[in-house]
Amino acid sequence: MNIAVIAAVDEGGIIGSEGHLPWHLPEDLKRFKRLTLGHPIIMGRRTFASIGKPLPGRSNTVLSRNPAWIPPAGVQLCATLADALNLARAAGASAAFLIGGSEVFSAGLPLAHRVHLTRVHARHPGDARFPDFPTPAWRLVHEEHHPRDEKHACAFSFLDYERKNGGRLSEVLAGGNRSEIGTLPLPLGEGRG
Ligand SMILES: NC(=O)c1ccc[n+]([C@@H]2O[C@H](COP(=O)([O-])OP(=O)(O)OC[C@H]3O[C@@H](n4cnc5c(N)ncnc54)[C@H](OP(=O)(O)O)[C@@H]3O)[C@@H](O)[C@H]2O)c1
Repeated sequence: MNIAVIAAVDEGGIIGSEGHLPWHLPEDLKRFKRLTLGHPIIMGRRTFASIGKPLPGRSNTVLSRNPAWIPPAGVQLCATLADALNLARAAGASAAFLIGGSEVFSAGLPLAHRVHLTRVHARHPGDARFPDFPTPAWRLVHEEHHPRDEKHACAFSFLDYERKNGGRLSEVLAGGNRSEIGTLPLPLGEGRG
C-alpha cells in the first residue's frame, strides 16, 4: 500500500491558523478531492474538527489518544497512526492519504512514499506548521505553477515528490509491528540529518 502525504504549505511552513486554513484556494481543494477520492484519508482530531464532517467517497479515519472521544457516524477512530495504516491495508486500499495536521504530518512523513504538496507562495500568520521539507530523501517528479488570479489571492505550485528509495518502512508495518510509529526504526534517512 502506498502512503501519501497531501498538504498545502506556505513559504514560511504554515499550514493552519486557529483551526483553519489561512487561505482559500479553490483549485487546491479540487486537486485534494481528485487525488484522495476513493482512498482512505487519515487525519488528526483537530483537522477533523476543522472539516466538521466526514468527507464523502473516502473512508475517514481520525486519530485521537482519547478513548472517550466518540467518532461521528462514518468516521473510524484509531489511537495510533500504525493502527490507521494497518486498517487501510486490511481493507485492501492501494493507497492511504495522510491529510494533516502538524502532528500527523510529522509522524507520517518518515513513512510516506509520496508527497503531494501545494506550495502557497505567500507568508501567513499561523500556529500549525509542516515539518522541514523537502529533505534530500525526496525527488520532485512533477511541478505545476498557478499564478494569482481573481479566484486565488496568491500564486501557488502543485509539487509532487517521491521518496528516492521508498517502501521499506511500510514492509515493517505489514510485518505486524503495531507499535506506535514513532518507535519504529526510521527509514531512508528521513529526519536523520
Ligand atoms: N494546509 C494543510 O494542508 C492542512 C491540512 C490539515 C490541517 N490543516 C490545519 O492544521 C490545523 C490542525 O492541525 P493540528 O496540527 O493543530 O492538529 P491535528 O494534527 O489535526 O490533530 C492533533 C490531534 O490529533 C490526535 N493525533 C495526532 N497525531 C496522533 C497520533 N500519531 N496518534 C494518536 N493521536 C494523534 C491527537 O488528538 P487527541 O488530543 O484527541 O488525543 C492530537 O491532539 C488546522 O488549522 C487545520 O486547518 C492544514
